[in-house]
Amino acid sequence: MDRAALRLILLVYFYFCVLLMSQQKQNVDIYSFYINSTVTSRYATTVITSRVANILNESQEIQFEVKIPKNAFISKFRMTIEGKTYDGVVKEKEAAQQQYNQAVSRGQSAGLVKSVGRTLEDFKTSVTVAAFSKVTFELTYEELLKRRLGKYELLINAQPMQPVADFKMDLHIQEKPGISFLEVKGDLSTGDLANAIKTTRADKDAWVTFYPTRDQQTTCKSCGENGLNGDLLVTYDVERRNPKGEVMVSNGYFVHYFAPSDVPRIPKNVVFIIDRSGSMHGRKIDQTRLALLRILSDLDEDTNFGLITFDNEVSLWKRELLKATETNLENAKSFVKEIRDRGATDINAAVLAGVDMISRHPREGTASILILLTDGDPTTGETNIEKIMANVKEAIGTKFPLYCLGFGYDVNFDFLTKMSLENGGVARRIYEDLDADLQLQGFYDEVAVPLLTDIQLKYPGGTNLTKTSFSLYFNGSEIVVSGQITDNSVESFTTEVIAVSKGSNVTYQDTIMTKDPSDVPPENEDFMQRLWAYLTVKQLLERQVLLKGEEKEDEKEEALQLSLKYQFVTPLTSMVVTKPQEGEVEVADKPKEGGEPPRPPAPPAHSSRFLLPVVGQSKPLCFDVPVPHKLRLLQDSASEFSVNGESMTGQNGCRKIAFHYKTNHHLTISTTSIRYHDGQNHVEFLWGQEPTQHNTEDVSLILRTNEIDVTMGNIRVIILLHKENGDVFLWPAVQQQPKDVKLTGILGESEIQGSQTPTLKINDQEVSASWVDATDYRLSSKPVIKCWLVSFYAAMQRDISDFTVTEL
Ligand SMILES: *[C@@H]1O[C@H](CO)[C@@H](O)[C@H](O)[C@H]1NC(C)=O
Ligand SMILES: *[C@@H]1O[C@H](CO)[C@@H](O)[C@H](O)[C@H]1NC(C)=O
Ligand SMILES: *[C@@H]1O[C@H](CO)[C@@H](O)[C@H](O)[C@H]1NC(C)=O
Ligand SMILES: *[C@@H]1O[C@H](CO)[C@@H](O)[C@H](O)[C@H]1NC(C)=O
Ligand SMILES: *[C@@H]1O[C@H](CO)[C@@H](O)[C@H](O)[C@H]1NC(C)=O
Repeated sequence: MDRAALRLILLVYFYFCVLLMSQQKQNVDIYSFYINSTVTSRYATTVITSRVANILNESQEIQFEVKIPKNAFISKFRMTIEGKTYDGVVKEKEAAQQQYNQAVSRGQSAGLVKSVGRTLEDFKTSVTVAAFSKVTFELTYEELLKRRLGKYELLINAQPMQPVADFKMDLHIQEKPGISFLEVKGDLSTGDLANAIKTTRADKDAWVTFYPTRDQQTTCKSCGENGLNGDLLVTYDVERRNPKGEVMVSNGYFVHYFAPSDVPRIPKNVVFIIDRSGSMHGRKIDQTRLALLRILSDLDEDTNFGLITFDNEVSLWKRELLKATETNLENAKSFVKEIRDRGATDINAAVLAGVDMISRHPREGTASILILLTDGDPTTGETNIEKIMANVKEAIGTKFPLYCLGFGYDVNFDFLTKMSLENGGVARRIYEDLDADLQLQGFYDEVAVPLLTDIQLKYPGGTNLTKTSFSLYFNGSEIVVSGQITDNSVESFTTEVIAVSKGSNVTYQDTIMTKDPSDVPPENEDFMQRLWAYLTVKQLLERQVLLKGEEKEDEKEEALQLSLKYQFVTPLTSMVVTKPQEGEVEVADKPKEGGEPPRPPAPPAHSSRFLLPVVGQSKPLCFDVPVPHKLRLLQDSASEFSVNGESMTGQNGCRKIAFHYKTNHHLTISTTSIRYHDGQNHVEFLWGQEPTQHNTEDVSLILRTNEIDVTMGNIRVIILLHKENGDVFLWPAVQQQPKDVKLTGILGESEIQGSQTPTLKINDQEVSASWVDATDYRLSSKPVIKCWLVSFYAAMQRDISDFTVTEL
């Protein structure tokens, strides 16, 4: 590639630096920011209160923006300005839209920007506030915490946009059976901020407070000038002394949590149906292989399993299900390693082959599960979705559940949801991300240990019940049923669960006295009614894809009426916020997860920016490494030492970095794990584990929080793990290089001779440069510094192709 052409490419990628700068100072003071969350028997109600002053001598627009969990429903929003309150009102979606349109046509409104991420969605609004006046924003949302893999997770995001003098987060969890364990995690719990967290536990209650000082809000690892930015994640579980479950009754409503763990595991039959069509190309197929290999390693010996891969052809690993013996697993792993992407997508033929295979296997005393993983629409064979669903439903005939995993954003997720629900399973999205393999494995872990099948729950005297029949119950999950009690004056309430355990029928029957004093504090009295409403609306909405005609309309109407009654912002409703400015309104919707990637718009493509201090001048030089490449970062041929990194489109830094030393030492660092092999022994660390060390004669690995310090021979390199805007990436920082050796590679070229007057010269060549901002990722505090941006060629005096390697 000649010089001119390269420069052109660099100009294209130049885009990136714009992102780093725009951080305008606001003339507003967020003087108080509270997050209070109360969890009563898994039902979480969170209130965010932000008090903001306009410190400008003229009126201005003040924004309020928060992120809330995707599963939650917003149930209240209020603004208070100069003693007057403005409450958001939940209305039917179309009515809200009409009101909004009218306002727009009068030129009085702007829409609410909403987006949806993997676990959080945005709520954003703004209001004009007079000079030196104040506004209070208050947002409430509610959600029922779901038990997964033996725990509940309460996720709270805090991102007030500036350091706040009075910042408080108060979380209170009350669980009648007692709390068995509780842990506080998330990036807001790391480093210095950990000192601001206080956990207090009693038998049935736990309080977590997080009161970081203003100082702590600016100096912590994940925060900067804009203050806190991150999550607090409280995970916990409750005691389960009563295998019949936990029943609570309050004000004519009840909830039953059923999660026995004293039951033996049921051996399972499982068939994995894996899409290997062309669209799985690249990372998706790599991650799928990786996940399958791990899943296979975890199979219990009494599992019978089958593997099917498909594109326009369907390939069976073996015609029958086989026991998960060591030999069979080894064979299966070899098959998995050979999975390659190609061809079109024949979902119909593949699923039917899976049904056929699993149906031929004896099911007595077992739990059978089909798992379909696909990333696209059916494109060959039977492509009519209705027909595929009819075929699959008929073939399965309610004998076992079908779980569908939709990989990425090109999938028709509605189709997968419908097909799973029709066949007693669930559909799950697998987000196209660095941790997709872990998402896949996580899903498998959730269904790995079936304890009961064909579960029926009965509540004599109960009415308006949520779902009461479940095909499978897995260890680590929980069945929740809520309802109303017809006769509120009865003294006792009975629950009955009938299910099939490993080869036998089991019954759990329990009676509780409804007149026992309830542990629910009076201010929380209506929580159970709201819990019932929340669960009912969720389930009605979920069932929508399955229904047709009148029944569908009836259930939709029911969900709508409940949403309106309880003021939930659901897919059927919107919240209308009328602002103090005459007639101006805003409308908040529950965003729908669609075909679009949920990320904030990123520049079309950007590259990694490495910073190099330049000899002969005090100002650093920086350059962009253009397209995704596998690159030689550092090399010392004399000591057989090299470091290679793999970058990728749309992300900073590297996703993977490999060290090689003296032919037998290999260290591979990814954004999830660190693996080291010295020719004989394997060592594996995980990011986020306890700090640890591994030292041998001339190799030292020191793992700290978010960095690993690597010394091989006399070269020392630190690899930092950065998390930014949902991206996770690695960044190398050379700490120590021997004086007498000539290092090569992108980070080894330290001997650039530069001068700056009157024009910037590198090795006596005049180069064009611009004075830009760049984030210095070589430090965990990520300071933004100024540097001269030059082209890659100018900095390195060589083409990028001279630094690319084929293998990490
Ligand atoms: C939230 O918690 C703070 C601090 O404990 C308390 O002062 C405040 O009254 C609480 N607000 C609400 C709405 O519960
Ligand atoms: C606000 O203050 C600035 C100077 O601090 C002054 O120039 C400006 O006229 C003031 N604006 C108003 C609306 O009073
Ligand atoms: C179910 O999970 C619990 C804890 O998570 C564990 O103690 C128990 O052994 C598991 N049961 C089976 C059958 O694996
Ligand atoms: C609950 O069920 C009763 C009948 O058993 C019915 O009349 C009532 O409307 C239901 N309530 C709701 C909110 O669905
Ligand atoms: C379980 O109950 C069902 C229906 O009542 C019956 O058909 C079946 O034989 C029972 N199974 C066992 C193992 O007792």
